[in-house]
Amino acid sequence: MMTYTIVLAAHSYLRWIMFALLVFTAARALMGWLGDKPYRPLDSKLTLFTLIATDLQLLFGLALYFILSPQTSAAFANFGAAMKSKPLRFWAVEHITIALVAVMLVHVGRIKARKVEDSRDRHKRIAIYFGLALVAVLVAIPWPFRQAIGRALFFGM
Ligand code: HEM
Repeated sequence: MMTYTIVLAAHSYLRWIMFALLVFTAARALMGWLGDKPYRPLDSKLTLFTLIATDLQLLFGLALYFILSPQTSAAFANFGAAMKSKPLRFWAVEHITIALVAVMLVHVGRIKARKVEDSRDRHKRIAIYFGLALVAVLVAIPWPFRQAIGRALFFGM
């Protein structure tokens, strides 16, 4: 199905944008925290861009999960049996759960950072929450080396 391919490709490539923004924002926050640097408008913008990429990724993910993906449709058709299949269980349970943790960490991290005035505290909160979100994203992604669930690094190639 055409829509499925487009949304899956968008979800697949947006992972790189989200990943890059998380790495860059978390690294800048870590350096800002440890180096006692001022919290600049760019820092705030970076957290906002990361949040937007994350929410868009969530939106594509939800469309795939509930409407478009033959993987999750197959899993929902017989959930009990799907739990015994590594790929179906991954798509129906593991991927969404870990990814939702990442989405939550980005949201909570941004809110927590806005609640404090001090630059060092802001950097610290972003570094911790976005760093943890990055770990969750790394676990949620079906990297090519992962048994039974691995996907290409670049969709369609
Ligand atoms: C937020 C971080 C997320 C990242 C980094 C991420 C990453 C990915 C990647 C790399 C793929 C494989 C695409 C390919 O074939 O190249 C994928 C597929 C998929 N993701 Fe996500 N995802 C995220 C969130 C979510 C969420 C929240 C959901 C569900 C609500 C979701 C549902 C799915 C589904 C259903 C598939 C496709 C299964 C199929 O092949 O039909 N994703 N995701």
